[in-house]
Amino acid sequence: MSPKAEEIIDLIPEIKMIKDEQLRGKVAAVWADAIDLGGWKAQDLDSIPFTLLIPDCKFSLLHHTRAVTKTAVSIAENLTASYGDAVKIDMDVLLAGSVLHDVGKVLEYVREGGVVVKSPAGKLLRHPFSGQGLAYKHGLPFEVLHMIAYHSKEGDLGKRTTEAIIIHHADFVNFEPLRA
Ligand SMILES: [Fe+2]
Repeated sequence: MSPKAEEIIDLIPEIKMIKDEQLRGKVAAVWADAIDLGGWKAQDLDSIPFTLLIPDCKFSLLHHTRAVTKTAVSIAENLTASYGDAVKIDMDVLLAGSVLHDVGKVLEYVREGGVVVKSPAGKLLRHPFSGQGLAYKHGLPFEVLHMIAYHSKEGDLGKRTTEAIIIHHADFVNFEPLRA
C-alpha cells in the first residue's frame, strides 16, 4: 500500500472495518488517486467543505465521510437486529461504498484564491459520476460502483440495492438538518 493510501486509512479509520484486505486497499487507493488528480493533499480533506450548498459550512468532507459511514453502519446493524436474514446487507460493500460515496467531490471542487468552488470538471460531471469512474479505474466491485453512482438524486430513477438505499438515506440525514 502506498504511503498516501496509509495516510488515508489514518484519516478515515472506518476503512479498517472492511474485512477483505484487497477491498480495503482499493478503497484507500481510490481516495489517494482522487486527491492527487484533484491537486489536493490528504490533509486538505479536513478543510474542504463537504457541500457548497451550505454557506460557510464548518463540516469538512472528511468529517462528513466519517459521519455518513458511521450512520450507514448503525442503520445496517439496526436493520439486522430487527429483521435478521430478511434484510441482507454485505457490510464490506456497505463500508466501501459509504467511505467512497463522495470521493468525486475532490474533482468536483477546486480551491480558488482560498475559497473552494465548483471546478470546470465539476460543472460537467457531478461527484457520483466522477467518483464512480475513479472507483471503476481501481477495480472496485460493481456493487460499490452502484452505491457511489446511485447515492444521490441521480439514482432516483433507478432501483437501488439495499446498501445503496442505506447510503442514500445516511447521506441525506447528514445533510438536511445542517442546512435547516
Ligand atoms: Fe455525502
